[in-house]
Amino acid sequence: HFIHRFKGLTSIEDQIEKRLNIKKAIIVPGNANEDPMVLREIGKVTSAYLKSLLRPNTVVGVTGGRTMATIAEEMVEDTTKKMNITVIPARGGLGKDVEKQANTIAASLAKKLGGSYKLLYMPDHISKDILTSLYEDPHIRDAMDFVQKIEVLLFGIGRADKMASRRGLSQDKIEELIQHSAVAEAFGYYFNKNGEIVEEINTIGVSLNHYKELKHIIGAATGVEKAEAVMAISKLNPNMVLVIDEGLAIEILK
Ligand code: G3H
Repeated sequence: HFIHRFKGLTSIEDQIEKRLNIKKAIIVPGNANEDPMVLREIGKVTSAYLKSLLRPNTVVGVTGGRTMATIAEEMVEDTTKKMNITVIPARGGLGKDVEKQANTIAASLAKKLGGSYKLLYMPDHISKDILTSLYEDPHIRDAMDFVQKIEVLLFGIGRADKMASRRGLSQDKIEELIQHSAVAEAFGYYFNKNGEIVEEINTIGVSLNHYKELKHIIGAATGVEKAEAVMAISKLNPNMVLVIDEGLAIEILK
């Protein structure tokens, strides 16, 4: 039975890779919308895959959200190997929920990997003027510059409408995004279904150009409602490794 199921998923993985034109798809059995254990499994599988990419001195960037928080929770602690990994949030803060902020996730991942972390002390929405002043602080500047060194990026994929309201955008702004056909959000950018930028959040973090040049990128998502968002994000860089649940994979292939 297991072999059968395994074979089935391998074929879905192949189909997803071809359909989305990405390097690799890892599909976790089950439907995350119906079974909360599926998200846990995504956490286990993604954290193990991330580990397999690490080399001495690798700089890892992470974003926020529930999926990323679960990946950090499921990461198996490994402090024996001294690989000098640095984990840095790929973005500024996210709302009020501290457990799901990129800073918190970067810190807990770094601890589990026996590495170190850097934090970005700033909210999501911040004016260019304030950003320029913050940059004068040596600690903040150090972290902001360090973002450029990210080699492996682990990130969550969200629906534009959900992420806009979670990030506390005004109703007008949310409607504007929808009117401009935003369907996806990832690392602070909103995209339409062709993977074109609709809006960029005015804060520091991985730029889209940096993202497009990365060789090691892992996007993780669950839930059928994210199908359109995942398809849009897959257009940005063919090096993407996508970890999703079977339910979402089937929705994408429809
Ligand atoms: O950018 C998208 C979010 O990181 C997705 O967050 O994992 O809580 O759905 P989530």
